[in-house]
Amino acid sequence: MGRRFESCRGRRLCVKANDMKNLLVTGGCGFIGSDFIRFLFEESDYAGRIINLDALTYAANPMNLADIAERFRDRYVFVKADIRDAAAVARVFDEYDVDAVCHLAAESHVDRSILGPGDFIHTNVLGTFHLLEATRARADRIQIFHQVSTDEVYGSLGDEGFFTETTPYRPNSPYSASKAAADHLVRAYHRTYGLPVTISNCSNNYGPRQFPEKLIPLMILNAREGKTLPVYGDGRHIRDWLYVRDHCRAIWEIIRRGRRGDAYNIGGLCEIENIEVVRRICALVDEMGPPLPGGRPRIELIRFVKDRPGHDRRYAMDISKIQTELDWSPRETFESGLRRTVKWYLENSEWVHGVRTGAYREWITRQYGLDAAST
Ligand code: NAD
Ligand code: DAU
Repeated sequence: MGRRFESCRGRRLCVKANDMKNLLVTGGCGFIGSDFIRFLFEESDYAGRIINLDALTYAANPMNLADIAERFRDRYVFVKADIRDAAAVARVFDEYDVDAVCHLAAESHVDRSILGPGDFIHTNVLGTFHLLEATRARADRIQIFHQVSTDEVYGSLGDEGFFTETTPYRPNSPYSASKAAADHLVRAYHRTYGLPVTISNCSNNYGPRQFPEKLIPLMILNAREGKTLPVYGDGRHIRDWLYVRDHCRAIWEIIRRGRRGDAYNIGGLCEIENIEVVRRICALVDEMGPPLPGGRPRIELIRFVKDRPGHDRRYAMDISKIQTELDWSPRETFESGLRRTVKWYLENSEWVHGVRTGAYREWITRQYGLDAAST
């Protein structure tokens, strides 16, 4: 296998969008995965087929892509499969003649990883290993294996400084440790077997269709409903927010033009304290949502609660590499992106209701003939 990939090591290798015929996207029914597939069909020059492999865990919502599945039925395939199952993964690669991989499937919520790390190790570490093995078995055909990772692998910053691509990994939660382990495997498969891999480490995403366990959608929905807004610790933890579509554009640029074997930081150049994010959400929901009884401002719903164990204080990304090499920068400002996001959650009450009540699981059961309780 080696020769073709030996020659790609460390160099930039353009993959023309039309060289890829069967792009496997894992986790395509989740928040970022569904936006990435939407982006590929609606905004990119990709002309091939997309195979969306997803296990449909609690975080997945096939409704996220219902219209896309209909409109692009000739070029879109959904496969319910679990990346923890090596044989199932290998079958998908063979059956669909996979020649490119964008790997997003993961257990993604830090609080859940604190509560129960097991699933994170199995999906994020072993699942990635199975995908790499399937890629290695078809190395002569695979043009790219892209690993979607996180800034959290770098650990936590003090008041100063930024994470660069050479910052050593120092993950602090079971989630970030499992992502770090997966990234190490991806890199090792490039060094050892010459697989054409790229890795992206991205900061906090927000936007439509994010599962409402994460800060921004949880606060929007609680604020709309007049419920408590729980802010962990002193609320002065800092995240670097990026609108999801900007992340998807960056992933596509890396897949097409990124240096094989390299990692790229992606971020929003938008550091904000959590308490400030929540205050802005309150103001937007007051402006666009239904008034609370007595015209009470939503800011009064904020409560400081016990801190998250091992809570990282600050993340901030140096994104000069992707800016210089791939000419990518965030386009959406936090002001416009947050306004769009709040509007989306206020206007898409059917999606919200489905997710809040678990009704979308019933749809999954009907659609795929599954036992929803088992997924
Ligand atoms: P998400 O939780 O919304 O979606 C994850 C998807 O993966 C779901 O559709 C789920 O069903 C699927 N999945 C989970 N376990 C699986 C398994 N064993 N087999 C097959 N599919 C499985 O996550 P997200 O926020 O869209 O994140 C996507 C990726 O981006 C993750 O790898 C995450 O680490 C990374 N990331 C997320 C952010 C963020 O802010 N959300 C930032 C940087 C990187
Ligand atoms: O940095 C990228 C990461 O961002 C991704 O890799 C993860 O998949 C994604 O979940 C996200 O992790 P965070 O832990 O930063 O996101 P979360 O939305 O859970 O929390 C954002 C901040 O808000 C964090 O400092 C914790 C705080 N928080 C969160 C919730 C859910 C609260 O104060 N209250 C809350 O109720």
